[in-house]
Order: sequence, then C-alpha cells, then structure tokens
Amino acid sequence: MLDVNKFNKIIAANWKLNASFDFIKGYFDQLNIDELKNNENCFIICPPSPYLNSCSKLMNPPVLLGAQNCSKYNDGAYTGEVSALMLAENQCKVCIIGHSERRQIFNETNEDIKLKAENLLKNDINPIICVGETLEEKEGGSKFDIIQNQITNSMPKNASKHNIIVAYEPIWAIGTGLTPSLEDISEIHSFIKKSIKGFDSYKVLYGGSVKSVNSEQIMKLKDVDGLLVGGASLNPHEFIKIMTS
Ligand code: 13P
Repeated sequence: MLDVNKFNKIIAANWKLNASFDFIKGYFDQLNIDELKNNENCFIICPPSPYLNSCSKLMNPPVLLGAQNCSKYNDGAYTGEVSALMLAENQCKVCIIGHSERRQIFNETNEDIKLKAENLLKNDINPIICVGETLEEKEGGSKFDIIQNQITNSMPKNASKHNIIVAYEPIWAIGTGLTPSLEDISEIHSFIKKSIKGFDSYKVLYGGSVKSVNSEQIMKLKDVDGLLVGGASLNPHEFIKIMTS
C-alpha cells in the first residue's frame, strides 16, 4: 500500500458520473503526464468503476488510479455492488469514500464508511475519507462539531496518517462556484489537525469548486495538503494547470 504521508501535495480528480470510451481517449491524448515527472506530489484520477481498467492502461506514475466508492460488503448477494478486492484487481490504489453525494443521495452513514475503509485497507487501497458540512450546519454554527463527528466516527481501526487521506468538502461549495474564504479553509483544516486528537499529521485535502484560478492560492495554505477536484478535472488542460499550480 502507498504511504500517502510521504507526498508533498496530493491532487485527485473525481470524475463522478461522467465518462465514455471516447471521452477517455480524448482526455489521455491531451493530458501530458510528462509535465508532472520529477515531482514529489501525488496525482490521482478517479473514473467511474467500469472504466478503471481502460484508464489504467493509459496512466503512468506519478498519476495513480482511484475509484469513487466501494461496497461495505466483500462478496455475496449484493446486486450492483463493487468490492474492494475487485477494485484492487483493477489496479486501483486509492478510493474516495463518504463523498457527500453518497452520504446525502445514498444515505451512507459514518458506520458504512468505516466498513468500506476497513475493506479497502485489507486490499491495500488507501481511502480518501470525505467530510463536510451543509449550508444550514455552517450557518447554524455547528460545522466544527459535524466535521469532528464525521471524521472520528468514519475512521477504520488501524487508521494512520500513512494509510488514510481526509478530504474536507463543504457541501455548499460543491459544483456551485462558491468557495469558502481562504481564512475559512485554513481555519477548518487547522481545526482538523490541531483539535481532533490524533489527526495532526494526516493529509487533509480541500474540495469544492476548485479551478485553475483558485487552486494555487488554496494549495499554498499551511494546513492544506492537496485538492479533490470535481468539474474542473474533466478538462485535461484545466486539470494539468491545477496539478502544476
Ligand atoms: P466540484 O469541484 O465540481 O465542486 O466538485 C468537488 C467534489 O465533489 C470533488 O469530490
């Protein structure tokens, strides 16, 4: 399994429910991975699961293959599910879990996310565990409690700064073009590292309306260890700019 802590910055693309064979061919034709060589950063692309295998054939280090979700079950009568072993056998090194779209639309709980993380770790895949507050929670003043509760309750046993990545994605910033102020991003990242016991040296990524125009400023913040990029990662030119910012 990768030691995620050894990287300087980690920049991950979450393609969500977007891709086709034509899209993938065009994307990797235009993504010049050579621009990223000799870099101490880690880059991850997470396509939808049916395309993992075809993407893996077009990707080379330092760009790694990631998935967007995995089952909390390992095998059995669970129609439509994809297990951590299946992801590992398709060259997956990293897997996003607990994304707010999974928590909100598919009712995933912290307990589900913890089980998924345990399955991933057993299969040598590093989980990216997502957390984030809604606008109501932010406005109601409970965002710190929400984040602390999500982080502490979705961590698997054996979690460490070497095997887990945390991603802070305020839900109101996802796909909206809105981002928290740089001070607000710093404040929450610093809260995760300084106030949640045991998380001081975990890698914590920021996600939510990251684009090449704001990526550099966000990534420069002291407690931000990288980015989780949605919409902007679907454009290879834009994503290369973000990866090299
Ligand atoms: P956007 O970058 O499209 O706001 O999405 C962020 C996200 O959800 C990444 O996981």
